[in-house]
Amino acid sequence: MSDNQTTKVFELTAKTFHGLEKTLASELKKIGAHDIIILKRAVSFKGDLAIIYKSNYLLRTAINILQKIVKFKAETPEQLYEETKKIKWDNYIKLNETFVIDNTVYSTIHSHSHFASLKVKDAIVDYFNEMYEKRPSVDTKTPDKRIHLHIKEDMCTISIDTSGDALFKRGYRQETDLAPLNEILAAGMIMLSDYKNIDYFYDPMCGSGTILIEAARIFMNIPSGYLRKNFGFQKFPDYDYKLWHSIKREAEREIKKEISIKIIGTDISEKAIEIAQKNISNAGLRHFINIQKKDFINSRFENKKGLIITNPPYDIRIKSENINLLYKQIGDTIKHGFKDWNVYIFSGNTEAVKSIGLKPTLKTQLFNGKIECKFLKFEIY
Ligand SMILES: C[S@@+](CC[C@H](N)C(=O)[O-])C[C@H]1O[C@@H](n2cnc3c(N)ncnc32)[C@H](O)[C@@H]1O
Repeated sequence: MSDNQTTKVFELTAKTFHGLEKTLASELKKIGAHDIIILKRAVSFKGDLAIIYKSNYLLRTAINILQKIVKFKAETPEQLYEETKKIKWDNYIKLNETFVIDNTVYSTIHSHSHFASLKVKDAIVDYFNEMYEKRPSVDTKTPDKRIHLHIKEDMCTISIDTSGDALFKRGYRQETDLAPLNEILAAGMIMLSDYKNIDYFYDPMCGSGTILIEAARIFMNIPSGYLRKNFGFQKFPDYDYKLWHSIKREAEREIKKEISIKIIGTDISEKAIEIAQKNISNAGLRHFINIQKKDFINSRFENKKGLIITNPPYDIRIKSENINLLYKQIGDTIKHGFKDWNVYIFSGNTEAVKSIGLKPTLKTQLFNGKIECKFLKFEIY
């Protein structure tokens, strides 16, 4: 590893979900990133190779980490093609590798994002064909390299994705036919809540267990990428194996072997509990999370310093017979059975949350995919 390589500073962008930008910026500050700027569903920052590795391994609210290759002005698709072709692509993609173009386009000039991506793809392919009479192939599912095109009006930024697969692919979740919450959203909600100084953490409608698992990982300092086998940067020419392993070792030394917070989950569905159990085992957290099949409605748990974060059905992907009644019952249950608890409810049904019948002390707008959601805090006395 040359000094040059460790001291080289990269221009980076971490993408996230709407509403989690500030949380992500605080995470970046904590790992030592600098020049942090909050953007729309993203945070830009600067850092060296170590920061690239740390951000991929540790950040809980980042979808991926993009490393800028070049930024230029292009008013036409032809200009976009020409400027892209000027990049020395050998530095980023090998002939025998596969690649894909992802895009984020906010532009009236380049209004057709798929067409803009095609221009970038053509430029890369033509670069290689002209140079070597051979070209790397496109693979949309499991590419070796992900190239990202960002266009805002006529300003185009081309980056390479240092994460590879999105960072919410933590490596503990089974595929399910339930409506599981994205891991980044779950982690973000916990980080937005006041989880310090609690005895109990409870998700009463835990589904596949995402909130419980992300909570345990936060309380125990388990890196978000702990179970992932691969990251995009491992295929980069400047990949520094020693540096990567020293960063991993350092983070793993911080993992707590024991925690005093009791983490519990329930769900009315037998199937959900089975899936949650599998995910909890995959995450290696069987000794730290207790789950059981139970109807939350009319349950009681009067313990001080307890925190609920839950994501009830909201009648969009999961049909509930009478969604307003369910939310009214949730409100009654927390009011009568959870004295002195703080309760956070995440829901995409803005009508049904009114039936909870309690006044939230905090409201945050978040998005679950395209669904606008509310994250509400209720303080129960
Ligand atoms: C939107 S899902 C939760 C998804 C979960 N956050 C995850 O990541 O998989 C809502 C869950 O509420 C559960 N549920 C519905 N009514 C319930 C009740 N009365 N008591 C307990 N769980 C209930 C459903 O079985 C479902 O698993």
